[in-house]
Amino acid sequence: MGLVEERLVGVGLGERAYEIVIREGGLAEVGRDLSGLKIARRFAVVADDRVAALFAAKLLESLAATGIKAELLTFPHGEAAKNMATVAELAGGLARSGLDRGDGLIALGGGVSGDICGFLASIYMRGIPFVQVPTTLLAQVDSSVGGKTGVDIAEGKNLLGTFYQPRRVYIDPLVLLELPAAEMLNGLAEVIKYGVIHDAELFRELEEWREAVLARDLTVLAQIIARCCEIKAAVVAADEREADLRRILNFGHTLGHAVEAASGYTLAHGSAVAIGMVLVGEIAAAKGLWSRGEAERLRGLISAYGLPVEVPAGLDRGAIKKYLKTDKKTVAGRPFFVLPVAIGKVIISAEVPEELIDQVLTDNRAN
Ligand SMILES: NC(=O)c1ccc[n+]([C@@H]2O[C@H](COP(=O)([O-])OP(=O)(O)OC[C@H]3O[C@@H](n4cnc5c(N)ncnc54)[C@H](O)[C@@H]3O)[C@@H](O)[C@H]2O)c1
Ligand SMILES: [Zn+2]
Repeated sequence: MGLVEERLVGVGLGERAYEIVIREGGLAEVGRDLSGLKIARRFAVVADDRVAALFAAKLLESLAATGIKAELLTFPHGEAAKNMATVAELAGGLARSGLDRGDGLIALGGGVSGDICGFLASIYMRGIPFVQVPTTLLAQVDSSVGGKTGVDIAEGKNLLGTFYQPRRVYIDPLVLLELPAAEMLNGLAEVIKYGVIHDAELFRELEEWREAVLARDLTVLAQIIARCCEIKAAVVAADEREADLRRILNFGHTLGHAVEAASGYTLAHGSAVAIGMVLVGEIAAAKGLWSRGEAERLRGLISAYGLPVEVPAGLDRGAIKKYLKTDKKTVAGRPFFVLPVAIGKVIISAEVPEELIDQVLTDNRAN
């Protein structure tokens, strides 16, 4: 082994268990690792055009070096491509290349690539194996772990999809050096989320290591990514299909999604989640579930990373509440809220009166 430490995070899902390999420079070693695993005879790498231009050559080279046959299929970057037309197009490419049930897919890229490719793998010839190589911070700490796949339809995001676990996940923090700052922030909002829902020490480290994280110190990032993967893996292993515990991963997302939708998706997901986390922190403080001091500490951390802590002035409160009512994740028909009771611990509650929602939306609004 070289000087760079390799971290392994196991996702304990019985016969569908797999490992997440976190290693700086690991993109160039995917072939060597995969060659011993006998997951598939041959692979198709699926990536958006931007990611393909940045990283496909290195991945394909690493596969070729160990004699693994692979080809590249691309689609246009961006959420707009996460739809059935892209899936059908890619499936056509697989069929024309003669990929069959003994072959597999590699999702290279952010959450869009992972969701499309995972979905395609779950339905192509009734299911072929796939591997994830996430390249955004959001994908490395969130979307590549847990086996949710899917695409959007005109009526809503992620309305078509499957639960389908990858066979292995390769995370190389080095690729984050290319990631635009705004994309980095989307991932950081999820990282802060993990601290609040499950890990007071991670929260403290995020406070202490802010500069190193924002400067993209790869050792610090690798450690943080590993912790987030451990938390998500533990939650998913306990509740793969989101019957109960997995709901805590929605911390900041109930109000966050409503704010994101009310902005017509002009607000970045991470920004919306940041605002959502501040709002539920305020709801928890108003209900006496946690102290005002803790709510302020959360607001302080979110703001220290350059994420917003107020609802943008232009967003209509009524629109936010309308989207809240159409949230597809409900408990007994009502949207549920993940409320913090301490840094590192949350509860799930559908008991949030509308007046309290009105109040926090009014009190935490930019002028
Ligand atoms: N399956 C799940 O559990 C889950 C969880 C959270 C989010 N998601 C989904 O993930 C998607 C969002 O993922 P995302 O934020 O990664 O978006 P994305 O995949 O669109 O990536 C964002 C942009 O960054 C570019 N990019 C990716 N890696 C790069 C790198 N290393 N350097 C430079 N540019 C790079 C991409 O080309 C893209 O333009 C949404 O569709 C969301 O629904 C899924
Ligand atoms: Zn999210």
